Amino acid sequence: MAHVHVLSSDVIARIAAGEVVERPASVVKELVENALDAGATYVEVNLKEGGKSLIYIKDNGSGIVREDLGLLFQRHATSKITSAEDLEQVLSLGFRGEALYSIGAVAEVNVKSLATGLKDAWEIDVKGGVKEAARPVAMAGQGTEIRVKELFFNTPARKKFLKSDASEVEQVLNVFMPYVLLYPDRHFILTHNGRTLVDLAPAENVVERTAAALNLDARHLLSGEGALLQEGFALRLVLGDINIQRPRRDLQYLFVNGRPVQSRTVLFHVNDVYRLVMSEGVHPAFAIFLNVSPADVDVNIHPAKREVRIRQEARLGGFLRTQIEQLLMTRGGAKEIPAREPLFPFPSDVPISEGVPADKMIFSPGQSSDIPLCRPRPQNEEPVFSEFVAHFDQQRESSLKDRLLRARFIGTFAHKYHLFEEGQSLFVVDQHAAQERVLFEKFRRQLAAGAVEVERLLTPVVVSLTRQEKSAFDRLEDRLKLFGFEATVLDEGAIALHTLPSDLSDPAQVVRALLADDDLGAPGNTDVLARRACRASVMAGDRMKAEESVHQLKHLMACDDPFTCPHGRPVFVELKTSFFDRHFLRT
Ligand SMILES: Nc1ncnc2c1ncn2[C@@H]1O[C@H](COP(=O)(O)OP(=O)(O)OP(=O)(O)O)[C@@H](O)[C@H]1O
Ligand SMILES: [Mg+2]
Repeated sequence: MAHVHVLSSDVIARIAAGEVVERPASVVKELVENALDAGATYVEVNLKEGGKSLIYIKDNGSGIVREDLGLLFQRHATSKITSAEDLEQVLSLGFRGEALYSIGAVAEVNVKSLATGLKDAWEIDVKGGVKEAARPVAMAGQGTEIRVKELFFNTPARKKFLKSDASEVEQVLNVFMPYVLLYPDRHFILTHNGRTLVDLAPAENVVERTAAALNLDARHLLSGEGALLQEGFALRLVLGDINIQRPRRDLQYLFVNGRPVQSRTVLFHVNDVYRLVMSEGVHPAFAIFLNVSPADVDVNIHPAKREVRIRQEARLGGFLRTQIEQLLMTRGGAKEIPAREPLFPFPSDVPISEGVPADKMIFSPGQSSDIPLCRPRPQNEEPVFSEFVAHFDQQRESSLKDRLLRARFIGTFAHKYHLFEEGQSLFVVDQHAAQERVLFEKFRRQLAAGAVEVERLLTPVVVSLTRQEKSAFDRLEDRLKLFGFEATVLDEGAIALHTLPSDLSDPAQVVRALLADDDLGAPGNTDVLARRACRASVMAGDRMKAEESVHQLKHLMACDDPFTCPHGRPVFVELKTSFFDRHFLRT
């Protein structure tokens, strides 16, 4: 083995860079933060080839004086903190003095700057950590311009790991938009290969900015403020009302002390309160701006400063819940009924049970309805009631099919369950799960044959998209066509659907779900895609007539796998007479 030796500074720099700079989006995040820390009211970012060949950023902030320019690209060179105590009170976005050093280690960087009150601008270059002397340069106005070229030119492994330009742009949007929300009074521009993706002039207030940035209707946003003085908590909420329902949690933003952060606990509390007004399977949009005493947050636990730890988490959770509940309950608007409404939105949080053998599933009755009904059965665990049999047993399938086909329809319950009687058993069919199974298999067959049955619309359905979704659409338009969605672009924030696969009740949700799927771009695993499509969509048919229920059961029995919904939940349960006997104390 080689002797222990200290790595050369150039190797150290590349390793350190790996922690801060993962992809173009991380560079954009760091540079935007620097511009905002410098008090810029105008921040413009231009990308070329997904940011791989060029990331250009221009701001009108305080600029960097010549002497400081000379110190840039050194590790721990920062103007933002000086002592360890300062770490306890960080108010700026940056504080480590790591970002430019790391970027300079893995790219070709040029910085031009004209500092406040000075006449002469200066520039400096660095490539792969090697710096040149500062030179005078001409600049029109106060501020800083940074060009980052050929990212990862000296770390080919990293470079290879980058995704397509379009995917990298989506990642950039994901890091860029939180700052756009956080600083509504600043002007933000983002372009890619000369095309404008974001151009948002200063907004009146955070609600107006949120609506403009996320392409949401401001009428559906509620805002409120609250504080808990003793604990030092202050809160500003921008909450989407029940009219904004997303198939994913992609429009949920959290900011703590002026920094976009992630916190599972906080997100859990917020989403949980929304369950009071929103069904499972759809997710709300919100932006939560929280201020706590800087001494109560630790931002230093993640190198990219994404994750925060907050003291008094329990207190905070309670406070958040009350505030949100109050706002939603007192000011939340009524649900508007669009032309095509999902009757039973599918819970997208239920774990998909792919890979779990069917006989390992149990149906657990008696649990509260917000607990997913199916979960892998731990080894050796017996079903709770043996009379509640979710049917997954292969050998019994054919006789079961026969029994179900013979079964007599006796009614529906809660407009959700169809009841059938056969011999000594009551079969309870979950109408929604059954519909999903039928639709899924039909859709899968059509997809496999390359012939999706479509409905041509006289009036197109307009779907508003976030910038990320629009970017995904540009990339995936042709694949969407295979699914039966022919669409044209209306503007940067909306598309018009001219055809839909038949039977889909909420095309906007389905299109969003498809655009969110990374695999959609790859030549397809039709099963996964069909599942995606039908997950976000359920046929109409709330109150079914008796014939329809019987008809549905026939269709179901014609399916390859009638016993589970495409997401692995049981389609029906069988209750034997013995179950009722026991409950009536007859045994
Ligand atoms: N756009 C800018 N305008 C003015 N000063 C800047 C700008 N970008 C960087 N600087 C100066 O360069 C210094 C180093 O920036 P860098 O991003 O590397 O570190 P930082 O922001 O202090 O900390 P962090 O690593 O946490 O981002 C900053 O402290 C700031 O003084
Ligand atoms: Mg910084």
